[in-house]
Amino acid sequence: QKADVTIKINTSQAKDTISKHIYGHFAEHLGRCIYDGFYVGEDNTTISHTDGVRNDIIQALKDLKIPNLRWPGGCFADTYHWKDGIGKKEDRPTIVNRWWGGVTEDNSFGTHDFLNLCEVLDAEPYLSANVGSGTVQELIDWVQYTNHNLQSPMADLRRENGREKPWNVKYWGVGNEAWGCGGNMRIEYYADLYRKYATFMAGWSGDNKIFRIASGATGDDYHWTEVLMKQVPYELMEAVALHHYAVIDWTVKGPSKDFDSEIYFKTMKAATLMEEYVTKHSAIMDKYDPENKVALFVDEWGGWYDTEPEIQNGVLYQQNTMRDAMIAASTLNTFNNHARRVKMANIAQAVNVLQAVILTDEEKMILTPTYHVMKMYAVHHDALLLPTEVDNIYYSLGDEKIPAISVSASRDDDNSTHISVSNIHLNKNILVEIDLEKIEYKNISATIVTSSKVQDHNTFENPENITIKDFTDFKNKKGSLKVTIPAFSVITFEIK
Ligand code: AHR
Repeated sequence: QKADVTIKINTSQAKDTISKHIYGHFAEHLGRCIYDGFYVGEDNTTISHTDGVRNDIIQALKDLKIPNLRWPGGCFADTYHWKDGIGKKEDRPTIVNRWWGGVTEDNSFGTHDFLNLCEVLDAEPYLSANVGSGTVQELIDWVQYTNHNLQSPMADLRRENGREKPWNVKYWGVGNEAWGCGGNMRIEYYADLYRKYATFMAGWSGDNKIFRIASGATGDDYHWTEVLMKQVPYELMEAVALHHYAVIDWTVKGPSKDFDSEIYFKTMKAATLMEEYVTKHSAIMDKYDPENKVALFVDEWGGWYDTEPEIQNGVLYQQNTMRDAMIAASTLNTFNNHARRVKMANIAQAVNVLQAVILTDEEKMILTPTYHVMKMYAVHHDALLLPTEVDNIYYSLGDEKIPAISVSASRDDDNSTHISVSNIHLNKNILVEIDLEKIEYKNISATIVTSSKVQDHNTFENPENITIKDFTDFKNKKGSLKVTIPAFSVITFEIK
């Protein structure tokens, strides 16, 4: 039978490494992400924790091998004053979360709590600093506090607060969404402001090099990237950010689990725009930076729906279905395939907010379909990208169409090849033929994330409804792999 789609793996063109940081996460002071999510407090006696952070979340994120964690925002970052979150907890002032629910927080989760958590997770911290309502001094003090190893006012203050060694934080966001909640700035103004902030930021400890990340565009705002690249010299900027959410309509975002086939199509259309955005922003960066010195960090991405109606005060809390698994697969394939320029990405957000990998309800915790896709894709961390060529077919609705099959492939240090293929079509099982002629191997195995309905999800009552399963329904003959990818499924092959 003739395949619907053929895939070629161009091993001879392999040259870029897929940065593991593409598989990064994001934790904002928003809804129940930090408080009543990660952090349940040092005095909690019902939930097992380490310094107030849930042990089940720590274990799940370690199992996922999360490479980095971005904090404290998001929009919250440009209202956050880090000095209010250090020192004795009972002495800390409160802060009203102006963007997310107007709740009053007690600053009990601060810099030490976050950076110690990252150490426990073995993840690089990414601090998103306040430009909108902060000062240059406040930001450079924060860098000195976390990174200086000798005597200095901020390093001494850190020692007074119980931490001798610096944490050596590498990743620093210079504001967030400067075009919106970060200060409603024009890029022409922000680019100059960025230059000023970046000038005073130093790595401090030995040869600890910091990454300064300029607040980037949203979606197709190419003017933003163009001006940033034109106005800011390489020496001042290690990365440019980009945000894109899979949203069907910002006024009515639709339900997170009871959606119909039209909403599903529209969500996938919005999600697959990531390919176009990354391609076009990268092309602008190539024009000004042909040597690829400045990285593109997609430091917020994911599906965004209406908050679950039955959840009280559930700011941006949403369920996570097979649709989210499909967003994750397609987006991660895009990032893998753009490994040359995209060096970091952060799904929004890790716990209880937007496309979360983890949901909690008091002492219960579940892993979402998105978690399982990210876990399945961990084989691509720091592996050599093998470029692919796809003779695709389309999934359409009315006049609109999107490629049905999405793929990325890599080879790891043990010489195993991994090919991740997803079929986002809602109704069609697609026969795919993968040409393996250029690959030497003895054995092929595969795993799948799928379900019988695209609305299926994990619940606190049925937490294992969707997980990673073994998959054997493929044929391998004379250097060719034939497989029918079921509608809305993700498969990863291991070839070794
Ligand atoms: O992730 C939720 C919000 O989305 C972030 O705070 C903001 O940066 C973006 O608009």
